[in-house]
Amino acid sequence: MPELSLPSVIPVSTGRPGAGWGWRPPTTPQHFAARDVWQHPKPFAEAVRDAYGHLRLDTLGGTYSWTVRPANRAQFERAGLTTLGEYLDRFLANDPRPLPYLAHVSVHRNLARLKRHLVPPPEFGPNWVDHPRLDRFSGPEIYVGRKGCHFAGLHVDHCAVHVGFVQLTGRKRFVAFPPEDARYLYTWRAIHFPWQRRNSAVRLFQPDWQERWPEARKARPVVIDVGPGEGLVLPANWWHVTEVLEDGITWNVRIVNHTNVARFVGEHLLGIPRAPLVAVQRLRDRLAGRRWQ
Ligand SMILES: [Fe+2]
Repeated sequence: MPELSLPSVIPVSTGRPGAGWGWRPPTTPQHFAARDVWQHPKPFAEAVRDAYGHLRLDTLGGTYSWTVRPANRAQFERAGLTTLGEYLDRFLANDPRPLPYLAHVSVHRNLARLKRHLVPPPEFGPNWVDHPRLDRFSGPEIYVGRKGCHFAGLHVDHCAVHVGFVQLTGRKRFVAFPPEDARYLYTWRAIHFPWQRRNSAVRLFQPDWQERWPEARKARPVVIDVGPGEGLVLPANWWHVTEVLEDGITWNVRIVNHTNVARFVGEHLLGIPRAPLVAVQRLRDRLAGRRWQ
């Protein structure tokens, strides 16, 4: 995989453990110790394998109502993997055979009995949407990946949610851009309601990204390496990609509380007037033979 080279890096402030949240959300990513999140006698991967090893990989759903995407399904097929148990066995055994990134495994839909063993650190603050009925918004998810796996699509999460991450095991690099950098990031509209411009065309893992997307050189990314037993909160609308530096498992949950609920509701409402615009764009794309994205 090509080296990720960044034009500029600014320091990241660290959170104050147990400090809780004031009336305003943090304005920079918060990186902190989060050692006691997984409260279960067995290590996380083993507990998942024992309770849910029978689940088929091609049925594991993400929180935006999609199931495993066709590209992921093909990766699992090529790797000769059918079930979550087979995947985790290979992960735990350090089997040298290829292992695709296992992303977007919904805790509520796929691992529900284990949810109570995942205890959010205080740095996540109050979370008003972490409930199975509100999974579309909070979507706690698990990611399992070998060193070198990456989530290459630069994006912000929807509707001004904050995002909390904990490295249950392993080390992961987060490359994050502040919200005001959106103007340099070649943004495009997401396919789901409320159709926000929350995706970026910039592919940071391509070695020529500075030539292909020259405006992105003006952006001010931060790089945060989160180790095992550490957490991270990305405040609302921070753009991000991730790269697994060391085989590991990440738990993440989206956060809505007093600091962002007004923007959260507002972004949903803005989806309503966007509907005719999106319909026209889709029709135009269809007539031009372009695939909607
Ligand atoms: Fe995200």
